[in-house]
Amino acid sequence: MRLIVKSGGPQAYEEWRSLFAEVSPGIDVLDWFDPPADLRGIEYALVWAPEAGRLAELPDLKLIVSSGAGVDHILADPQLPGHLPIARMMLDVTAVEMSEYVLMSALMLVRDMKRMIVNQANRHWEDFFPPLRSTATRVGIMGLGSLGAAAADLLRRTGFMVSGWSRRRADLPGVRCHAGEAEFDAFLAETDILVCLLPATEATRGILNARTFARLPRGACLVNAARGSHMVQADLLAALDSGQLRQAVLDVFEPEPLDADSPLWTHPGVIVTPHIASTPSRRDRAVRAAELIDLHRRGEPLPNLYDRATGY
Ligand code: GLV
Repeated sequence: MRLIVKSGGPQAYEEWRSLFAEVSPGIDVLDWFDPPADLRGIEYALVWAPEAGRLAELPDLKLIVSSGAGVDHILADPQLPGHLPIARMMLDVTAVEMSEYVLMSALMLVRDMKRMIVNQANRHWEDFFPPLRSTATRVGIMGLGSLGAAAADLLRRTGFMVSGWSRRRADLPGVRCHAGEAEFDAFLAETDILVCLLPATEATRGILNARTFARLPRGACLVNAARGSHMVQADLLAALDSGQLRQAVLDVFEPEPLDADSPLWTHPGVIVTPHIASTPSRRDRAVRAAELIDLHRRGEPLPNLYDRATGY
């Protein structure tokens, strides 16, 4: 059976080929960047940000596997064959690493790690009291799917006070769960560190905007580990400059890589990380893709399928 792979650039193809040869030798792995002349019989595609129109050229495609947890990079293709199932790459390690990233960010914000890093660069010894204490800090998580739920649990076990907000009401132990537009402002009003782990959909585009920031307590912080499209960059900079927000930890941008001349690189209130919050290995992803292909061939239901009704 034939699988075409586009994830990690042309140089990653050899690694994918040898990983699949190990975990599922029956899969014939084709290179997206050097495709065969005959595209027939390619039933599976494992992709990250496929170029528009390329998936539509595969006449026998049956299943698209996203190389990441999100599917927005696939849905961006206006010629995407709308009838095909899309499986999201959701691994245990995805949730573990994402929760670690959120915990790391929350701890850097309560201790003001940014200030210490800047001081170190200036050989400046300044002792100061942390601006927050973890046990007195309310972390509000937007998006309570598998990533948000795992992050909420780790933060709560570390001592933070955790609340969450999602489209449909979630039920998580020890987490105050808010739902829907009607409860959004109440959720924001009791949040010292706002964490965005929402899927990127039309409904969530630009949700991290001036209105949202204005409803947080003055001096609140932001962690965005979801998508750059959630954030209105000019609104974030204005909120930081006015003191409405104290600091932001940002892992995602639009576009990526972040422009060399973006003001976010040098803003004193911003910590930039290069979309690394959660990076499952190619081996883990090859194993999961092979499992998904196997389930599909046997006609069994696939986990974490993209749902057209919800948009994620
Ligand atoms: C990364 O952002 C992913 O969608 O896995």
